[in-house]
Amino acid sequence: MRFFSRALSVCFSVAALAVVQSLPAQTKSTVLSVDLAHPGAAISPQMYGIFFEDINFAADGGLYPELVKNRSFEFSEPLTGWKEIMPTTAKGMIASHGELAILTEQPLNASNPHYLEARVHEAGGYGFYNTGFRGMGIHGGEDYRFSAYVRAKGPTAIRAEVTAGDKTIASGKLEGFSGEWKKYETVIHASETADHAQLNLYVDGLGSVDLDMVSLFPVDTWKGRPNGLRKDLVQLLADMHPGFVRFPGGCIVEGRQLLTRYRWKTTIGDVAQRKTIINRWNDEFDFRPAPDYFQSFGLGFYEYFQLAEDIGARPLPILNCGMACQYNTNETAKMSELDEYVQDALDLIDFANGPVTSPWGKLRAQMGHPESFHLEMLGVGNEQWGGRYVDRYKVFAAALKAKHPEIKLVVAAGPSPAGDPFDEMWAHWRELHPDIVDEHYYMAPDWFLTNTTRYDKYDRNGPKVFAGEYAAQTASTTSSDNRNNWKGAIAEAAFMTGLERNGDVVTMASYAPLMANVHAWQWTPDAIWFDNLRSYGTPNYYVQSVYANNVGTRVVPITPLVDGDGLYTSATLDERTHELIVKAINHSATARAGTIKLSGAKASGAAKVVTLAAADLSAENSFDQPTNVAPVVSTMEVGAGDISVEMKPWSLTVWRIPVR
Ligand code: AHR
Repeated sequence: MRFFSRALSVCFSVAALAVVQSLPAQTKSTVLSVDLAHPGAAISPQMYGIFFEDINFAADGGLYPELVKNRSFEFSEPLTGWKEIMPTTAKGMIASHGELAILTEQPLNASNPHYLEARVHEAGGYGFYNTGFRGMGIHGGEDYRFSAYVRAKGPTAIRAEVTAGDKTIASGKLEGFSGEWKKYETVIHASETADHAQLNLYVDGLGSVDLDMVSLFPVDTWKGRPNGLRKDLVQLLADMHPGFVRFPGGCIVEGRQLLTRYRWKTTIGDVAQRKTIINRWNDEFDFRPAPDYFQSFGLGFYEYFQLAEDIGARPLPILNCGMACQYNTNETAKMSELDEYVQDALDLIDFANGPVTSPWGKLRAQMGHPESFHLEMLGVGNEQWGGRYVDRYKVFAAALKAKHPEIKLVVAAGPSPAGDPFDEMWAHWRELHPDIVDEHYYMAPDWFLTNTTRYDKYDRNGPKVFAGEYAAQTASTTSSDNRNNWKGAIAEAAFMTGLERNGDVVTMASYAPLMANVHAWQWTPDAIWFDNLRSYGTPNYYVQSVYANNVGTRVVPITPLVDGDGLYTSATLDERTHELIVKAINHSATARAGTIKLSGAKASGAAKVVTLAAADLSAENSFDQPTNVAPVVSTMEVGAGDISVEMKPWSLTVWRIPVR
């Protein structure tokens, strides 16, 4: 393994006891005192968001629903994903009527230098096939766009057959080729559903045919876009109502070497011009090798901005600061070579926000989005640390703040939530005062439970904090045994009370990683799991979703915050809807009865109650039981007096109480 291992005053009063005397013997009793007369800090509108990284086949093979793996023949092994169909004679001998080769003469374009040549020297049918990203998921009754760039000398047609086992479930044909590269496409209809289909291609006629950008793409994407995203996965994101989308990572920003760092400019424009490179998670973990993991950038920066806009979230791109992953090569660009990196950042702001009369704004408009993407924040470096990072940040900050003082800069505090690199970075940031500092914690559930007061002690006048990557590691950090169970999720829920209460310090938070393909993952736990056809949110996803859907606009004092007996609370006010939002985590096997006592305002009307609970900490969701641990919503009438509430064992409960 190359990746470094990282490692309301509760007044438990006599009066409160009296209220719950009729409860079962096993029920605890709690008073939650909420002081609406003294509302506190404003909570940032983008408080809870999402962290997207192309890890675990989250982009190609996931959110980006291209079904053909290595469509451009640009993987290091250019025939990865492709194989000849080898028919056998009656005597069991191979009867291939042609051959495949990877060529580079007069390619489609300079970013896409390799293509496939199929040479057919004997009539009788010659073909080859692609098995997709661990099989192709095909939905019966739906349409798929089959397309390719083709140039031919002889052959007249390419016949496509999508097969599941011995059965053909969709078919179509591209024809009318010439000796010049041209894109051909046809829509084919699937008669049946299959989770491990493959695409077989047969050449009609003798001679040679060149193919590039061979694609089988669902027509029914999110918002029906031709190069659109997988609908069920975007829907899960949209349902969260995230405040921001951080993209494209993650270590993928850094690359193992600078040569394979993420360069946003190669990810926009015509997909056939986007340069495929290796994915840095390809061979990161010896225990989960993925030699077929590359980045086609079909999901590129334009699509990321569009995704953020579609789901009402603010975009937060993170850019390479001249440093490759410090866990790998730690390759660092010379200070004299930083201009290109800084220019990328300046140009990105123009691409996102510039007028259509500017070169980058014009390109955005040509791609279909003349309006601004309203970029307000930019990350300089991913999970960097050390003096060399600070030196490089200073160059970025000087250039970016001079030209774009309106853009908030996000910097890193290293890979861990404490320790020397973390302390060193914070010492620098206290002095340099960047806008937002990104902290990461991949820690045990107990760490989350004991750190709910972490931000109570932070300097209220220092840089803001972005809890940019966190997830409870139920086994150990980066262990393949980590589970997305309720034990981790409820600990994260408890911890988040401390993020929320410190809304004047913590401005954003996101769970990480976001998505994983069950057939091709490298890192667990993850918020959302999917296969070729299905997807589900984990308990951790639902914790994020419950928080993001119940943020509020202002912190409100509540006591107790933590009672030492498994209770964790926070309260906010939603000034737009005039609702008090109380959250309580009961981290114990015993139910609690509670009384919410308000001062400074009166409750009245129908309160909404959202309960996320599980009978035990090992509970998980799955494809068969996707909502085993999921929010349950009910309502209750509230009046001017104390409000009696219940908290299930091992639960997160949210009460949205109308107040005046
Ligand atoms: O989320 C997985 C990885 O964890 C991210 O790529 C990196 O930033 C962190 O180390």
